[in-house]
Amino acid sequence: MKRLLVPRLVYGGLKSLVPGLSSHTGTGGTDRAAYCYSVWLRHVRMIQDSGCTLGRGRVVEVGPGDSLGVGLAALLSGADDYVALDAVAHAEVTRNLAVFDELLELFRGREPVPGGASFPNLKPEIQDLTFPSELLTEEGLQDSLGPERVAALRAAVSGLRLGRQRGPLRYVAPWMDGGFVEAGSADLVLTQAVMQYIEDLDEACALLARWLRPGGLVSHQIDLTSHDLARTWDGHWGYSRATWALIKGARPFFLSRHPLSRHLEAIRRSGLDIVRVLPVACPSKLPVRRLAHRFKSMTEEDRTTRAVYVLARKTPA
Ligand SMILES: C[S@@+](CC[C@H](N)C(=O)[O-])C[C@H]1O[C@@H](n2cnc3c(N)ncnc32)[C@H](O)[C@@H]1O
Repeated sequence: MKRLLVPRLVYGGLKSLVPGLSSHTGTGGTDRAAYCYSVWLRHVRMIQDSGCTLGRGRVVEVGPGDSLGVGLAALLSGADDYVALDAVAHAEVTRNLAVFDELLELFRGREPVPGGASFPNLKPEIQDLTFPSELLTEEGLQDSLGPERVAALRAAVSGLRLGRQRGPLRYVAPWMDGGFVEAGSADLVLTQAVMQYIEDLDEACALLARWLRPGGLVSHQIDLTSHDLARTWDGHWGYSRATWALIKGARPFFLSRHPLSRHLEAIRRSGLDIVRVLPVACPSKLPVRRLAHRFKSMTEEDRTTRAVYVLARKTPA
């Protein structure tokens, strides 16, 4: 039975080559308001604990998934506007409205960051799960949760359309070029479980850095595991290029398999200063002899890092 894993994965890849045969099953996180609230507040807490200041201007998210809930949480926290860019249009209006209404209740209650039993594996891991009231102050929240602002945001969610629309909420999927976000306009570019899919990291990181205003931040949580495409968490580094291409098929996005050091290198090359790196270490399960040729020279740190949080800043003016 175990031997069947690779043929099954290749079959999935081949199926994706045939239009109509592949089915969309969701991305698995942002369809729940509590998840979105937790992700947003975790990034906020990491920014705060790292001694950085989060501006109240524009938040850009790459790869929001099933809803725009993380960005809606940013807007309810006081961000002026939010731009979401995805490879695939997963999020639709009805779900976004439901997530928005639940988020509103969570913010009104100043609820603690969901973790523990509900989200035991959610990253970045933070020690303090209390509501970050030093950063999201009562004064600020009175404004961002005021009746007029909430009505305007709800109307923006109801009228959500794909493309270059105006207003506090923009959703572009698929996005083809970086022109959807003006250079130097973003206070924060955030990704959650997305950077592991980007093949050309140098190009992507340069683009993200270009969008930032001076002093702006990128906040990434990156999952470096095999995503069940192998029997061990690090088994994806054992496949040859040819087998990996067959497993990938024609899927619109797929794991790039870049390890930790490659991500950090691309962020540094983009000109940003890395402020914080929080790796999650895990013993490697794949013996060196089973690593694919291109991964044979991986460092011990790369081989034993299954996730990482990275915060980086554009030099202030
Ligand atoms: C594992 S899901 C994570 C979704 C969401 N951030 C969450 O935490 O649940 C990965 C997301 O990244 C998106 N994605 C993959 N490659 C992308 C790319 N090059 N540009 C934008 N989004 C991308 C996918 O469409 C999907 O929405």
